[in-house]
Amino acid sequence: MAADWVDLARDWVPRDIRRLIQRHVSLSGVKQRYFARRDPLAEVIESDPHQGKGGVRVGILRNRVQRHTAYIRACREMGVAFRVIDIARDDWLQQVTTSGCRLFLAWPDASLGPYARLFKDRCMLLEQALGLPVIPGAAETWMYEDKIRTSDWLRVHGIAHPRTWIFFDADEARRFAAECPLPIVFKTRFGAAATGVKILRRRAEVRRVVRRAFAAGHVPAGHDRRDREWGSLLLQEYLPELREWRMVRIGDSYFGHPKGRTGAFHSGSGRVDWDMPDVRHLDLLHALTERAGFHSMDVDLFELPDGRLLVNELQTVFGASVSIDQLRRDGRPGRMTRSPDGAWHFEAGDFARNACANERLRYALEVVCHEGTS
Ligand SMILES: Nc1ncnc2c1ncn2[C@@H]1O[C@H](COP(=O)(O)OP(=O)(O)O)[C@@H](O)[C@H]1O
Ligand SMILES: [Mg+2]
Repeated sequence: MAADWVDLARDWVPRDIRRLIQRHVSLSGVKQRYFARRDPLAEVIESDPHQGKGGVRVGILRNRVQRHTAYIRACREMGVAFRVIDIARDDWLQQVTTSGCRLFLAWPDASLGPYARLFKDRCMLLEQALGLPVIPGAAETWMYEDKIRTSDWLRVHGIAHPRTWIFFDADEARRFAAECPLPIVFKTRFGAAATGVKILRRRAEVRRVVRRAFAAGHVPAGHDRRDREWGSLLLQEYLPELREWRMVRIGDSYFGHPKGRTGAFHSGSGRVDWDMPDVRHLDLLHALTERAGFHSMDVDLFELPDGRLLVNELQTVFGASVSIDQLRRDGRPGRMTRSPDGAWHFEAGDFARNACANERLRYALEVVCHEGTS
């Protein structure tokens, strides 16, 4: 009962007002309790004793906003034993070493800066120092919810992406702001559903954004006001007419669909289209993930009017509240698979269950079984 006012506020107070309030009050604790209350699996810490007996036991790394429960659902549906591990606690290492788990599933937590760093750091140690398989792996989570890392990664790998300028030096940023082309897009380093994205049309706005970036710092809309981004700045060329595709690879399943749009933004629009991706969208997804060794990756593509495809974002895990399926042909959900000669095949079926957690678990078990036999 205590926090029912949160449900009421979410139903009745417009989003812009809620965001305005959060510029003055930090509601992270309230939000965490809200997500825990709404998720019937929030308190589950291990599988029933009879489940998955004798097989591999999977460690599920707990996420502060309950995204890890998608893995609990996947384990239950697929009959796999599991234990939930809270790697944000002081005894995290002991939990890991005494868990009896040979494989770990992570839903990196980006809800707050400290958790985002902790998740990446400790998962990397599990994988690289202790040699434990964590899926998705450190290479895949490295750029998660971090637009500066993503942009740097795309740049060093020579992958076509929107022209992006990143500044850590205030004078360099100020000089750029005085003469950059307009409009220009400002993005906070962290941000989803377009909460940290602004299209700046006037030079005074660009100057203001630069000033703030190197003074008090920026906070994405609705984000915890203490989690300020200070001392860096990302600006991007404005692409007026674009179509956005969500392309996904999990294991050897491939998916894709265009994102719907409201106003200037696709992300967070709450809309989804079901056109099938072309071979060139799928080929790009395959080439990028294959080259980087990614087996759990959403590759968001911008398609320009001249047909060029630019990579905008790489997200190793992603919500699926709007697009429960990730690919549909003639109204039927399914996946694409690729044969060794490069041909693509549609297979109907429910391959995107639980925000793709089932597919990720299937791939993770394959990896461990393969290691066990090699
Ligand atoms: N360079 C750009 N030019 C024009 N529109 C953009 C540009 N970058 C992003 N957008 C629009 O803003 C939305 C959010 O941007 P994105 O980089 O995907 O951030 P996030 O999804 O993390 O909020 C996109 O879905 C797209 O509609
Ligand atoms: Mg996006």
